[in-house]
Amino acid sequence: MSYVARDDRPADKAARYAELEDEILAVLEGEPNLTARMATVASMLSDAFPTFFWTGFYVVDPDKADELVVGPYQGTLGCLRIAFGRGVCGTAARERTTQIVEDVSAFPGHIACDSRSASEIVVPVFDRAGRLIAVFDVDATEIAAFDAVDATALERLLSRVFAA
Ligand code: SME
Repeated sequence: MSYVARDDRPADKAARYAELEDEILAVLEGEPNLTARMATVASMLSDAFPTFFWTGFYVVDPDKADELVVGPYQGTLGCLRIAFGRGVCGTAARERTTQIVEDVSAFPGHIACDSRSASEIVVPVFDRAGRLIAVFDVDATEIAAFDAVDATALERLLSRVFAA
């Protein structure tokens, strides 16, 4: 199946996420490879939302306890490794809860991979057995780009892609 970027998506953010969720699931139908699934989610979300400046996954390193390593992403160079508890991604991994940060400069321990990032959302990603396998990180160059609509939509999308 070929994917063509579109500029006629609904203006309402929740509706855009819902439409995109169906498209992502259609593209991934029958594809079990985790890297392929993560790369597709990062690419299609990044393409659909112009505000998404850095979009991608930090995966739980199977060889190192409590450490994330960069996975598939779209954007400028990301840090390679993040310890659980460090920065926004490490906090989401340790707490296993979504983190919405309106102003990254005010977040204690924020890791500035690119100084243009101003706000951020990080959503934990679980597999079917409820194990944490990664976190999904989106950065924007605007302050307060993310809210509860993004959190709800991304949690739902990631659960349907990785835990269904
Ligand atoms: N800002 C993140 C680090 C990852 S990058 O922004 C790509 C954080 O503090 O977790």
